[in-house]
Amino acid sequence: MANTRMSLDIKEYPDTEAQQNRVLTLEEWQDKWVTGHTAFHQEQGNQLLKKNLDIFLKHESGLRVFFPLCGKAVEMKWFADRGHSVVGVEISELGIREFFKEQNLSYSEEPITEIPGATVFKSSSGNISLYCCSIFDLPRANIGKFDRIWDRGALVAINPGDRKRYTDVMLSLLEKGFQYLLSVLSYDPTKHAGPPFYVPDAEIKRLFGTKCNIRCLEKVDAFEERHKHWGIDYILEKLYLLTEKV
Ligand SMILES: C[S@@+](CC[C@H](N)C(=O)[O-])C[C@H]1O[C@@H](n2cnc3c(N)ncnc32)[C@H](O)[C@@H]1O
Repeated sequence: MANTRMSLDIKEYPDTEAQQNRVLTLEEWQDKWVTGHTAFHQEQGNQLLKKNLDIFLKHESGLRVFFPLCGKAVEMKWFADRGHSVVGVEISELGIREFFKEQNLSYSEEPITEIPGATVFKSSSGNISLYCCSIFDLPRANIGKFDRIWDRGALVAINPGDRKRYTDVMLSLLEKGFQYLLSVLSYDPTKHAGPPFYVPDAEIKRLFGTKCNIRCLEKVDAFEERHKHWGIDYILEKLYLLTEKV
C-alpha cells in the first residue's frame, strides 16, 4: 500500500526524447502474435474501462464504438453484448481470428475493396467488424464516424514519430457529441525502450487539445511482476476522457 501511494505521487517524467526515434514495423507486431508475445492482452478486460463504463456509455443505445489497434480485446464483446456496434482495426490476422475463436463467435470474411490485400472479418450477428490492415490505410475504407473510441494499447503502441498522423486519423473518425476514452502509461522512458511508449500529459494536450476537452478520470498503480524485466520500478495507468470542444 505504501508503495502504491509512493508511485502515485511520482511526477510526470520530463524526458520525451528517450523513445523519439524508436520504430516497430508491422511485421514485428505480426511476429509478436505468431510467437505468443502478447502479454499486453488483458484476459479479464480493462478494469478502468469496466469501472467507468456507465460514464462512457451515458446509458445511450445503438452506439458505434471504434477500437483502434484492437488486438483480441475482450472489451469488444462487452459493447456488442450491450447492443452497440463495434469496429476494430488490427494488423494481425492471427489476433483477429483468436478473438472470434475465444469469444465463441462465428464470422465471415471478405476483401476490403479499397485496400488491396486487406480483409474485413464480420461476426455473423453483424455487430462486430474487424478490419485487418494498418490504421493508416483504414481511412480509405470509409468506415464512417464513431460515437465512442476506446484507445487502450493503441496510442501507446504507435511509433512516437507517427503520433500526429495517428491522431489525425482518430479525429477524422469522431461523430458529433463523441466520447473518447484514452488509456496511457507513465513510467521512466530512459529505462525501457517501449512499446508501450510513454505518452506524457503535455503530448496528449498537444495532440488532442485543439479539438478536445481533456479530463483525467483515473491514475492508478499498474505495476506487475512482468514490469520488473523492463528495468522500471513504477508504472501508472492514466485514463483520460476526451470530449468535443464546442
Ligand atoms: C499493445 S497491443 C494492444 C491490443 C489491444 N488494444 C489491447 O488492449 O489488448 C497493440 C496492437 O496493435 C497492433 N498494431 C500495431 N501497429 C498497428 C497498425 N499500424 N495498424 C493496425 N494494428 C497495429 C498490434 O498487432 C497489436 O495487436
